[in-house]
Amino acid sequence: MEAGCPSPRVDAEWLLADVLGTTRTGLYVMERPLEEGELRRLRALVARRRTREPLAYVLGEWGFRRLTLTVDPRVLIPRPETEIVVERCLELLRPIEQPRVLDIGVGSGAIALAIADERSDASVVATDSSADALSVAEANKARLALNGRVELRHGDLVAGARGPFDLVVSNPPYVAPEDVERLPPEVLHEPFGALVGSGRQAEVAEAARAVLPPGGIVVLEVGDPQAPEVTAALYALGYGEIRTTPDLAGRERVVEGKAP
Ligand SMILES: C[S@@+](CC[C@H](N)C(=O)[O-])C[C@H]1O[C@@H](n2cnc3c(N)ncnc32)[C@H](O)[C@@H]1O
Repeated sequence: MEAGCPSPRVDAEWLLADVLGTTRTGLYVMERPLEEGELRRLRALVARRRTREPLAYVLGEWGFRRLTLTVDPRVLIPRPETEIVVERCLELLRPIEQPRVLDIGVGSGAIALAIADERSDASVVATDSSADALSVAEANKARLALNGRVELRHGDLVAGARGPFDLVVSNPPYVAPEDVERLPPEVLHEPFGALVGSGRQAEVAEAARAVLPPGGIVVLEVGDPQAPEVTAALYALGYGEIRTTPDLAGRERVVEGKAP
């Protein structure tokens, strides 16, 4: 509480459940004192959380749609709004058989691996300019047994991936540099290059045109006030049928369009 963590009780439950190898619900049916080793491990995890290290990094894993992904400070922690990005991709891919998908900026693998997991006939290529992030995505891909279905490539934007793709998706860095100081301390543990950027959705949309056939789809995550500017950028690049999708709080967080 005194460290300023917004939900200390919930965090403590997560950490204790981790130490005891159970779930938060499981804690309520356990009635025994902690053993010395368990107490020591719990104290070590709490000490990390007290420094405002994100809970996901302390636990070493985080849930994203149906998957549990390994996460550490080499990658952005997958967010709930990105689950809506995946939802939108799955909806758009529904009429397409054996779709080919490109995820630009794969990070932990969240979007690419969730699409491969939930569309068993999809083949997914995913890129990242961070070799560190790709190592995490590679480990998640192997652990989730999605090896044959997802190809990871190191490099900028499409990173030489050969199209055509039916859909290009990206959650690029979009926190404005001037907003960094206002972020909660947890966020500053995440990789700067995964968080901070401006105009990156337009860069992705421009690069995507080279690998999308006419009618191919681009799906982009955007920050809270950015949907109008990204919509305008897509129009300027010749995309049509542009549509936005809100998150559960009603904020427009996904912009999609069809290539010319
Ligand atoms: C906001 S994170 C998204 C990670 C993951 N897709 C997710 O949604 O949780 C952005 C990712 O894009 C990568 N990235 C930044 N610039 C890039 C570029 N020009 N080309 C490819 N990847 C880039 C970063 O390294 C980072 O992993």
